[in-house]
Amino acid sequence: MSNGFDSSYFDQIINREGTGSTKYDGRQAMFGKPDVIPVWVADMDFATPPAITDALMERAKHPVYGYTLFPDSLYESIIDWMQQRHNWTIERDWIVMCPGVVPSLNAAVMAFSQPGESVIIQPPVYFPFFSAVSQTGRMLVQNPLVLQNNRYVIDFDHLEQCVQETGARLLLFCSPHNPVGRVWSPDELNQLLQIAEKQDLIIFSDEIHADLIYPEHKHTVLATLTGSEDRVMTAMAPSKTFNIPGLNLSTLIVPDKKLRKAITDVFNTWHISASNPFSVIAFETAYRQGEAWLEALLVYLRDTRDYVQDFLNNYLPQIKLIPSEGTYLLWLDCRALNMSDAELKHFFIHDAGVGMSPGILFGEQGSGFVRLNIGAPRETIRQVLNNIRQSQSLLKSNK
Ligand SMILES: Cc1ncc(COP(=O)(O)O)c(C=O)c1O
Repeated sequence: MSNGFDSSYFDQIINREGTGSTKYDGRQAMFGKPDVIPVWVADMDFATPPAITDALMERAKHPVYGYTLFPDSLYESIIDWMQQRHNWTIERDWIVMCPGVVPSLNAAVMAFSQPGESVIIQPPVYFPFFSAVSQTGRMLVQNPLVLQNNRYVIDFDHLEQCVQETGARLLLFCSPHNPVGRVWSPDELNQLLQIAEKQDLIIFSDEIHADLIYPEHKHTVLATLTGSEDRVMTAMAPSKTFNIPGLNLSTLIVPDKKLRKAITDVFNTWHISASNPFSVIAFETAYRQGEAWLEALLVYLRDTRDYVQDFLNNYLPQIKLIPSEGTYLLWLDCRALNMSDAELKHFFIHDAGVGMSPGILFGEQGSGFVRLNIGAPRETIRQVLNNIRQSQSLLKSNK
């Protein structure tokens, strides 16, 4: 038992079909099959903390759902959460509310680069990082992460070279990293900041997964390190953490006044600076009352991650788990199966009946990999692994 929530809470199977869920009801469109076990898009199959559901129901009882302000109490909940969980003292003026991290990523590209200019990303990485750059007419510059001894690291020399050769002024940084599961160390973050300082780079630091860190690791907010105040903006949200991403609200913390004005100007041109009554309530309740639920969730996810690791070691040794330090997204190296990406896709979807995100979606560096979302009851993950194991033995016996 952990703070009132035990594993039986997260073991509950909740039927999400027919709720308009992307993960469930979008299976036909994504996989060409409506019945794969959905372990792809990054939301979880767990019930959100009961305090959030209660607060939403209470608000729903008031029958007017009009235009809604961001209340002072919401800002205070963000300030307190950053202080308590991340040892980061922020000011109210630094906070820009946004309708999601991906919109703020796109806004940053528009605010801090011009069409034709270069923007750097570090693949394999969450695919909107690519589209935020290429769909806005900017030049995509890739500073790929390097896989060394089964662990991804940043190629700092190459990063510096990218800036010098392309004149890029903006880096889209993912911390913790989706999909490779790295929680960057203070040492790595300091090295990054040194380059940013020297090369005059602005960093958009997507830290949406900052609260989903396995107990043996610790997340450092990039902006808490010295020399970062005037060049780093940090995207945060309780959406992944507390399983409320469908409510579409996030925050961008921008200490520097000039940067803040530039990004707010972009949001204002889109006229999306207002919120809705439900997201505000859920966001604040998560930060105010969700901590005990989160602590229990992290233990559950850690145990599931370890279960996957043991299962692969014992029964599917050709599939290697890249050790995951944070996020509920596991990056599986399937290269030893010796299949093309098309064959891998067919194998997982049609033979095993499992809907994971193909690694190639995260850039060419993801070829031969898949991303498994373990934000689901352990029984679901057990079925996923068993299906893969059975299909693999069939494959072997047919060879
Ligand atoms: C790194 C990262 N950033 C952003 C998002 C999505 O953020 P939002 O739903 O707030 O746009 C995700 C969702 O998977 C993510 O993994």
